[in-house]
Amino acid sequence: MSAPEGDKIDKLINPIESYPPAPEFVAGTSIPENLRERAAADRLGFWAEQARELEWSKPFTEVLDWSNPPFARWFADGELNVAVNCVDRHVAAGRGDKVAIHWIGEPGDTRTITYADLHREVQRAANLLEKLGVRAGDVVTLYLPMIPETVFAMLACARIGATHSVIFGGFSASAIRSRVENSGAKLVITANGSNRKGRVFPLKETVDEALAEPGHPVEQVLVVQRAEHEVDMVEGRDLWWHEQLEGVSDSHEAKGFPAEHPLFILHTSGTTGVPKGLWHSSGGYLAQTAFTFRTSFDQREDDVFWCSADVGWVTGHSYIVYGPLANGATQIMYEGAHDFPSLDRWFEIIEEYGVTAFYTAPTAIRGYMKSGREIPQRHDLSSLRLLGSVGEPINPEAWEWFREVIGSNRTPIVDTWWQTETGAHMIAPIATQDALKPGSGQKPVPGISVEVITEQGERVNPGEMGLLTITEPWPSMARGIWGDDQRFIDTYWSQFPGRYFAGDGAGVDLDGDLWLLGRVDDVMNVSGHRLSTTEIESVLVDHELVAESAVVGAEDETTGQAVVSFVVLKDSQREAAASIDVEAELRGHVAKRIGAIARPRAVYPVAELPKTRSGKIMRRLLKNVAEGKPAGDTSTLTDASVMDAITEQVRARG
Ligand code: WT7
Repeated sequence: MSAPEGDKIDKLINPIESYPPAPEFVAGTSIPENLRERAAADRLGFWAEQARELEWSKPFTEVLDWSNPPFARWFADGELNVAVNCVDRHVAAGRGDKVAIHWIGEPGDTRTITYADLHREVQRAANLLEKLGVRAGDVVTLYLPMIPETVFAMLACARIGATHSVIFGGFSASAIRSRVENSGAKLVITANGSNRKGRVFPLKETVDEALAEPGHPVEQVLVVQRAEHEVDMVEGRDLWWHEQLEGVSDSHEAKGFPAEHPLFILHTSGTTGVPKGLWHSSGGYLAQTAFTFRTSFDQREDDVFWCSADVGWVTGHSYIVYGPLANGATQIMYEGAHDFPSLDRWFEIIEEYGVTAFYTAPTAIRGYMKSGREIPQRHDLSSLRLLGSVGEPINPEAWEWFREVIGSNRTPIVDTWWQTETGAHMIAPIATQDALKPGSGQKPVPGISVEVITEQGERVNPGEMGLLTITEPWPSMARGIWGDDQRFIDTYWSQFPGRYFAGDGAGVDLDGDLWLLGRVDDVMNVSGHRLSTTEIESVLVDHELVAESAVVGAEDETTGQAVVSFVVLKDSQREAAASIDVEAELRGHVAKRIGAIARPRAVYPVAELPKTRSGKIMRRLLKNVAEGKPAGDTSTLTDASVMDAITEQVRARG
């Protein structure tokens, strides 16, 4: 890990054009003017106030217990039910007829789910889980498409105090296997398939493959019928969701759970080969998720919100399920691909449902920039009043294009920086108050304290770049790595004592605004999805052909970064390798072992990897070459000619 290098980026030291809030946008907002000042004056009081917006079955009296850092406890003597907060209380307040979810299936089928409908479905699902023997404290794994049942199942877990562990539907059988083993789930909920680009993605078969070998904790598999697709049901293990729901009561009495009760586990890639199961609490998580949803997106009663993420990522947890529903918002949930049946799909949805706030990733925006502005422009997007970006740094060009073409030259854009570990937004402008700067995340969320520092731990000056750290605990922070407290300490809290180190670089401009610069560690960001260099390397060396591997995240115009790998083949396997397409074989191997998102863009079999005298692989040089640049300083290598050969090879491929 090292601080971002090179020339200061221009934006940090030169004034740029910014977009002050338009009076017609600000009119009618409920965001208080002095929010930041209030939070700065009394941080804990501020968060207590946000937490009191929730319904507590037992009110809390303590705000923060930080006596055992880095393990925070927020609102710890309070009790609440997360599902009641997301559903029941809206119905009780007379908003049962309000639409919670406009669901759109990829083939074109739709469902309108009001809060009253959601209330009934969550209660039925809660009863179903209890009927199957799931109890508070159990872990339930979800491997599901973007369908309403996924939300019902997550909220049903929350309602009965079970901890959900959602696995993104694009992950492979071995990824499922390691996650169920890590979390100790006894029940897996999946579907007989998900609809993706007009085809059926076989979720159930993938679960079957994951569970084929004994030695895992899973006892039951509940299968939602979604796709037109036959699956085998394993006798004594597999049950149909719809059959199990027959005769189940649609009323379920909810009880409160302590604020620190684990709501969910979500695995994410780190700098080692083994994914980490970050776990989140109930009260603190919900308080900050709900607050940031209404503040970052300036939520209004008649808004139609749409977050285009998948619920398998933290963005879907916090800004499809918990944030919007805790606020009683109306939102879109879309099952399929943005380009099916054509690239017009998202814009058709925005137009048809009158979406007012649209939250998506820079990779999608850059993709549309490439395909041409005529696609969004042939739709009426005038309902949009705010746009949001998340997942990776948004380049100013993409920001401007997003505002001009999708936002009709009018909408504010909020760039929100956060992580699986942070649970909710940490850096984001307040669109009703700030003059927006294209490409900047601008300010910490009210109540959040960040500092950009040097490798020596000193605060950088305005106009400089450094490492992003968080200096005070926050309500939605992960409470740990499931089953591995020491790893939580080592990974996030040991580089700079007393601070959380995010793994990201950032710059501070002369106004004190923050510019996120991406990862400074061995974590890659491909299309806003987090992948570990080390994890892909270890999967590659697991292949019988491969002796050594080095993986880098090379700059990519559309996906932000792309996986590029360099491998040294085993001498003993050279003959075998000569008769097959090694690159195709290894790309397929990574996709199978981790998931299609990890499939390398290129695999270069090389004679040797560039190493220093102490044996360290110089990935930085490989990254430069993969990006089509000169390798850079090779003076510390044992043998500089290794890099010349690799450069030659990459160039020859073009
Ligand atoms: C990493 C976290 C947070 C939800 C999606 C990803 C990068 C995230 C931004 C942003 C620049 C960003 C960081 C971070 N990132 N948002 N607005 N600007 N970079 O969650 O998988 O936990 O990844 O995504 O590098 O560390 P995640």
